[in-house]
Amino acid sequence: MIVAIDGPSGTGKSTVAKGIAKRLGFIFFDTGAMYRSIAWKIFQEKIPVTDEDAIRKVVSQFQFDIQTDGEGEKRYFVNGEDVTGNIRTPEISLLASQVSSLAFVRKALVKIQRRFGRKADAVFEGRDMGTVVFPDAELKIFLTAKPAVRAERRYRELLLKFPDLGDSLSPKQILHEIEQRDHSDETRAVSPLRQAKDAVLIDTSELSADEVIDKIAKLHAHCGSRRFEPMRFSYRCVYLSVRAFFKLFYGLRIHGLSHFRSGAAIIAANHASFFDPPVISISCPQEVHFLARDSLFRIPILGRIIRGLNSHPVARGSSDAQTFRQLIQLLQKGKKVILFPEGKRCYDGELQPLEKGLSFLVYKARCGILPVYVDGTFEAWKRGAKFFRLFGKITCVFGSPIEWEEFDGLEKREAMKRITARTEEAMRSLKEWLKNGAIGDPP
Ligand code: DC
Repeated sequence: MIVAIDGPSGTGKSTVAKGIAKRLGFIFFDTGAMYRSIAWKIFQEKIPVTDEDAIRKVVSQFQFDIQTDGEGEKRYFVNGEDVTGNIRTPEISLLASQVSSLAFVRKALVKIQRRFGRKADAVFEGRDMGTVVFPDAELKIFLTAKPAVRAERRYRELLLKFPDLGDSLSPKQILHEIEQRDHSDETRAVSPLRQAKDAVLIDTSELSADEVIDKIAKLHAHCGSRRFEPMRFSYRCVYLSVRAFFKLFYGLRIHGLSHFRSGAAIIAANHASFFDPPVISISCPQEVHFLARDSLFRIPILGRIIRGLNSHPVARGSSDAQTFRQLIQLLQKGKKVILFPEGKRCYDGELQPLEKGLSFLVYKARCGILPVYVDGTFEAWKRGAKFFRLFGKITCVFGSPIEWEEFDGLEKREAMKRITARTEEAMRSLKEWLKNGAIGDPP
């Protein structure tokens, strides 16, 4: 789950984001520290902010790392060097604001932020978390405060961090700098500081950090139960009955549900049996879709079940183009679609090489992939067998999502090659994880 916290500086964003992350047991990510780190590198190398070529070079070589020290505080590293103590000075604040208006800088940093966001439940704080970086974040907060309050907070924070600057700091000057930075952050052409439509606005002028954290914790508790759009009644009825069937007769086990995000994605699974589509559908915590040959709809019971679980018939003889169009339309509506990239059911229960269809679809829809491995369905209903065998053991494992950003900017052939290779590798490692005893979280 992602909690996105945006707002201008001096609203208490960092303290609140850190506090709520601690309370929820989430990781905390300060994206401003990344813009500051780039600014620090540029400052170090004495590159003027107008020299875009030199800044591009810095960005292309930028390696950013975060570590936690013995006291639980975050330390930021740029190309191996600890910059934590150097990135909060007033010069770097101003330079970070200027550098953050460069589109190529933002593109590179957003990619890194999304990569970090894939790893675990996290609180991200910044300026464009809810609008650009994580538009699907389950909880979005926008913090504001009166400029005078923000200036006063910043003044106290700077005094604490840099006591030597005492004489040269003035709240009036800080207020002026804050207003300058606000103007630049709010009016820049790329990703300006703006409240997302679905973000909750909190004015922190009269609130303590703990009071703001309490408010967000309440919002989180409320949204936890509606993390995904609720299932429609008819879908839920079929979902629960089919789930009960697989639990009862096959002891269905599901792993890796924390890898689920809201929004469009292709659920890419191995295919060993007619049972795979219903098993995957009822393992998902939200409504998903899949395509099925129209002849399957004529099989008694199975036909009714798959119809109830959002399957869409593909007529025999219909072209690949028609099928793709159907899938793209579903993804564009933000739906999740189950796909079997091996192309057909296997004859031996083993994973087969993936066909090109998946990569083509991902490339066209520019969507993420959720890799899945299903075990035990082959034994339960083998290819060629007229009926399924009652009783057995079925397991469904969801792996870490593969984000579209991994392939963004690659030439089409290269992108498609990597999408296929990445997905196949992910499915194989899920199979291995299961074979090795399903210890810890699935990869
Ligand atoms: O939150 P902060 O003051 O540490 O951020 C430093 C600068 O980076 C600030 O001027 C705005 C910019 N920034 C941004 O443009 N987008 C983000 N997601 C985070 C920070």
